[in-house]
Amino acid sequence: MAKTVIKLGVNVDHTATLRRARGTDYPDPVVAAMICEYAGCASIVAHLREDRRHIQERDAILIRDNIKIPFNLEMAANKEIAAFALKMRPAQATLVPEKRKELTTEGGLDLGKYYKKIEGTVKKLQDKGVIVSLFVDADKRSIESAKKIGCDLIEINTGRFSEAKTTREINRELSRIKEAAQLARSLGFAVAAGHGINYANVRDIVKMPEIEELNIGHAIISRAVYVGLVCAVEEMIGLMNNRK
Ligand code: PXP
Repeated sequence: MAKTVIKLGVNVDHTATLRRARGTDYPDPVVAAMICEYAGCASIVAHLREDRRHIQERDAILIRDNIKIPFNLEMAANKEIAAFALKMRPAQATLVPEKRKELTTEGGLDLGKYYKKIEGTVKKLQDKGVIVSLFVDADKRSIESAKKIGCDLIEINTGRFSEAKTTREINRELSRIKEAAQLARSLGFAVAAGHGINYANVRDIVKMPEIEELNIGHAIISRAVYVGLVCAVEEMIGLMNNRK
């Protein structure tokens, strides 16, 4: 399979985490989104969590209105958040599982337990013209269930890969991701991946031609503290497109 340009979606949640740390109105994730767009990313991602710990409704609306690239709203299949998403109509929504006490998203969607709820949310969003992605673990059952549900694309969870310590563990996780990506492509899905991707481990992920898009947040916003946001985004795009 030919290796094409891989798209970067920058998750700006952690600019809002920093804003929250002091209860100020800066740094503004809306400004951050505009800077990331200027630096060449393909989309902006923000997660409106039930507990509103970082991104707020106002951020999501203003990001959507102030960028020309697609806005991808990450969200749980929760009634209140879904009502907001149906009203604001982001270009894309990515459904993720959410637990109140987690530091960040832990694991992909449980499409066995929550099949009906997720299917209902996917259909409602699609009826409003929103492209819907499901965040799933790198396993066959999840991907086949995503196909049955009829979402538009999938995002493979790279969290376990990013946390793996030994070479053996890393290689095992890479194989799982690769197999999942191949299956998803064979089912006609566009394949994104994300969670825990950083400036070092991105090299292994972009070797997989099946993956068309990476959604990256924490590593980019962290690096921006050292080198600035434009540089942090440009460096990541450079690494992502060195797909040898
Ligand atoms: N993709 C999904 C579905 C996520 O939930 C997150 C975290 O919000 C990311 C990508 C980005 O993860 P990270 O901040 O570790 O790069």
